[in-house]
Amino acid sequence: MARDTVTIIDNATGRRIELEVRRGTMGPPAMDISRLYRDFGFLTYDPGFQSTASCSSAITYIDGDKGILLYRGYPIEQLAEQSTFLEVAYLMLYGRLPNAEELDRFSRTIAKHTMIKESLKSFYQGFYHDAHPMASMVGVVGSLSAFYHDSTDIHDPASRELAALRLVAKMPTIAAGCYKYSIGEPFMYPRNDLSYCGNLLHMMFSVPTEDYVVDPVAEKALDMIFILHADHEQNASTATVRLAGSSGANPFACISSGITALWGPAHGGANEAVLKMLEEIGDASNIPKYIARAKDKNDPFRLMGFGHRVYKNYDPRAKIIRRMCHQVLEKFGDANDPLFELAMRLEEIALQDEYFIERKLYPNVDFYSGIIYKALGIPVNMFTVMFAIARTVGWVAQWMEMIAEPDQRIGRPRQIYTGHAQRDYVPLDQR
Ligand code: CMC
Repeated sequence: MARDTVTIIDNATGRRIELEVRRGTMGPPAMDISRLYRDFGFLTYDPGFQSTASCSSAITYIDGDKGILLYRGYPIEQLAEQSTFLEVAYLMLYGRLPNAEELDRFSRTIAKHTMIKESLKSFYQGFYHDAHPMASMVGVVGSLSAFYHDSTDIHDPASRELAALRLVAKMPTIAAGCYKYSIGEPFMYPRNDLSYCGNLLHMMFSVPTEDYVVDPVAEKALDMIFILHADHEQNASTATVRLAGSSGANPFACISSGITALWGPAHGGANEAVLKMLEEIGDASNIPKYIARAKDKNDPFRLMGFGHRVYKNYDPRAKIIRRMCHQVLEKFGDANDPLFELAMRLEEIALQDEYFIERKLYPNVDFYSGIIYKALGIPVNMFTVMFAIARTVGWVAQWMEMIAEPDQRIGRPRQIYTGHAQRDYVPLDQR
């Protein structure tokens, strides 16, 4: 049988470079270039990693042309419809669906870890009162490594698992703390009788002086959004977590670095940016002006919530969340909310525009998530924090997968140097 290789010819020397081809279960084949520099002296150049598989992974599969997203093989549509966020978390972390007893045990374990140390709360006081909650979250999550020394031994599988469980469990508590601090209200303790998302709503919206009843529609909506956001293979924040982790950094530091990467408007920060953009557009009559700006190469403005590096077909998450958007607005908002109307009109116009059609720019998941969050009463600057809670599951699963690899090594990209050639230092008095 012919060897599974690709041959590249160096036209300058006529040298033939044979590369092994690696094939996964699904998806495009990859040329293995790991020995390219050592054996042939060539680097590869791929800014933005558009053609680079940085690792192999068994967690999430995306077919961007067909609009397919699978977690551990299960279609996102089925998980969003039939599963729960904690079940998906189990699936991500352990690679298979739990049975009833395993899910119950897992849920109780997560519930047991929801509290944060009392002294950790004083970290919030160090932030200025109007700090962006993402800034506080980066700091507080990073500081967890100073509190949980028993789960920072990355070479011990049990320690890694404990860190993963702690991160998944404490993230809602930390996020709610960011919110409560920003509005000057007392922090609420977690309630372990509530679901993962029910507890988050409780910690965000209840106050010590009154009873708070979690609304089941809000709880379900949040749970579904969290399922949709749980993982998305090697996106910017996950790749950041892996790169930070490859140096042997502790898991809390790695997740904190993932949060910083998520914050950018081209990534998780898009949900906040969408809302701000819709508010700026203000009225459907202004849409053509903004579409024209998005198309103008001299204007940095982009239609936030449109386009995706991998999906060149409709984002499957956007399809699901779009339906959810209607249900949530029926219950909590005015189904004729001007913002929602505006979003629908923008979507319609953009989808008919040649510029967007040609470039396959469809609305992505974040086009809708912000509208839902807004209807649920979640403030705009908390939108990306919500994303970070959900994505923590993916981050820790990917981090654990990476560390467990037998030939795991530090990630160290190379570069094409474009600076000065070597030159001699000129003493100050001669310049
Ligand atoms: N509005 C206007 N033009 C756009 C947009 C947009 N939102 N997105 C891409 N384009 C154009 C871009 O100018 C380029 O045009 P041309 O070929 O003429 O130069 C072409 O489409 C390809 O764009 P790109 O920048 O090469 O694509 P990318 O894969 O590097 O970027 C993206 C992907 C998501 C960063 C980008 O589409 C974008 O900035 N979108 C808005 C931000 C956003 O909604 N991000 C959330 C992504 S989904 C949530 C998540 O996973 O984090």
